Amino acid sequence: KILILDFGSQVTQLIARRVREAHVYCEVHPCDVSSEWVREFAADGQLKGVILSGSHASVYEVDDKAPDAVFELGVPVLGICYGMQTMAQQLGGKVEAGKTREFGYAEVRARGHTALLKDIADFTTPEGHGMLKVWMSHGDKVTEMPPGFKLMASTDACPIAGMADEARGYYAVQFHPEVTHTVQGRALLERFVLEICGTRPDWIMRDHIEEAVQKIREQVRDEEVILGLSGGVDSSVAAALIHRAIGDQLTCVFVDHGLLRLHEGDMVMDMFAGKLHAKVIRVDASELFLGQLAGVTDPEKKRKIIGGLFVDVFKAEAAKLKGDGAKGAKWLAQGTIYPDVIESGGAKSKKAVTIKSHHNVGGLPEQLGLKLLEPLRDLFKDEVRELGVALGLPHDMVYRHPFPGPGLGVRILGEVKKEYADLLRRADAIFIEELRSTIDHNSGKSWYDLTSQAFTVFLPVKSVGVMGDGRTYDYVVALRAVQTSDFMTADWAELPYALLKKVSSRIINEVRGINRVTYDVSSKPPATIEWE
Ligand code: XMP
Repeated sequence: KILILDFGSQVTQLIARRVREAHVYCEVHPCDVSSEWVREFAADGQLKGVILSGSHASVYEVDDKAPDAVFELGVPVLGICYGMQTMAQQLGGKVEAGKTREFGYAEVRARGHTALLKDIADFTTPEGHGMLKVWMSHGDKVTEMPPGFKLMASTDACPIAGMADEARGYYAVQFHPEVTHTVQGRALLERFVLEICGTRPDWIMRDHIEEAVQKIREQVRDEEVILGLSGGVDSSVAAALIHRAIGDQLTCVFVDHGLLRLHEGDMVMDMFAGKLHAKVIRVDASELFLGQLAGVTDPEKKRKIIGGLFVDVFKAEAAKLKGDGAKGAKWLAQGTIYPDVIESGGAKSKKAVTIKSHHNVGGLPEQLGLKLLEPLRDLFKDEVRELGVALGLPHDMVYRHPFPGPGLGVRILGEVKKEYADLLRRADAIFIEELRSTIDHNSGKSWYDLTSQAFTVFLPVKSVGVMGDGRTYDYVVALRAVQTSDFMTADWAELPYALLKKVSSRIINEVRGINRVTYDVSSKPPATIEWE
């Protein structure tokens, strides 16, 4: 196993992710663990190497250092950015406060004599120097290497951009190999953990499940857990994982607000109650939600009402389950994933406990007096998906497009009515069905997989049409399909005309009440992905 000590960089989890991608087991712990803790961690003889992460701070602002034991274990150590600087200081070198910050793309001259960088280069200069394209983010720099170290990499701005004491297995780089902008970063980290540390690449998702299951059992012991199941990827995978660990000690609460997609509620129940035999309480609160939404047209008000009611309904169910006696629920489980942790600033502070604000459930554990269980906290979205598949969840469920918490509530423009929701659900199901079944011949993928998010929007306006011999005066829907990597910016997808044609004709023919279909050709920005 590999130990990653976190000095608070925003990208520490990326190091863990790269190590996991190399199929090596690793754990991330805060840098201020004690030397005793480190020795204890290594006591099983399985610890093969340590990685010291970067930090958001300067060595002159904080006095975080690696526990001394790290350098007494006799295993290789890799320092990254701040990790390099603290390694230099702790082993007798010097670090100087930088006057300017070096941030972004840089080209580093790699000295190929070290085991870490041997034969790794992006290009060679006319003088024959191997060069690496890397990503830098630092102010301070190492100005004097500790005794025993030799130069491994340099740039004009940072003459000591990498150093190594190969006899002891100590390596350090000023740049960030964990980010994808460092082209050879993955190769470099792989080489460190596999060749230099000598780990075996035998860790797979199945092992992760075993470990996660053990951890949940140790945390929860014989206590009861409740979880708000939304049908989304994160809460579904969290539910499946926790259920695997503690079975009937988990109760899922599925609040149906009446603004879900076609048959979604039944599918969730089918999967969790039916196939997994998990305890799921389905609360049909659609009348409550639609009642409170009547007459409300402002998008933010609608969001607030839906979010608020969701919390109320969930709290009421949780209170029943919590009970008074020893048998009541003691834990609230949430499908918080690592990007949520970063977003809410949790990654900066090692001790911060953050919760998903997604469903506006912030503060819920405190209000309910429950402890928080977040088994997906260290994972990235695609790892969560992989875990979901390994747990036996259907591929289609796990690779679903994101769906907003307020559901169809923000896809029905203006006032939400049951009639509108019913029309929208059917139109949207047709659009999604056609996206799934239309394969792009260049990529061999379905258009559902080629788009990041696709859905139908209900416009409460009527337009004139003809059908058979008669005139119609019915509603309009807009199709929306976007491609994006981060949902901050997005392009509308260039869906094939034949696909749009089929969707339009099916919706108009099959959904009585809709006689016009439009396609949204707006990018984000300046438009947003959702219409409200
Ligand atoms: P926009 O419309 O802002 O959407 O471009 C970006 C992403 O966020 C999702 N979204 C929401 N998700 N509650 C959510 O849980 C919301 O109120 C909400 N509004 C937008 C949207 O679906 C897209 O993926």
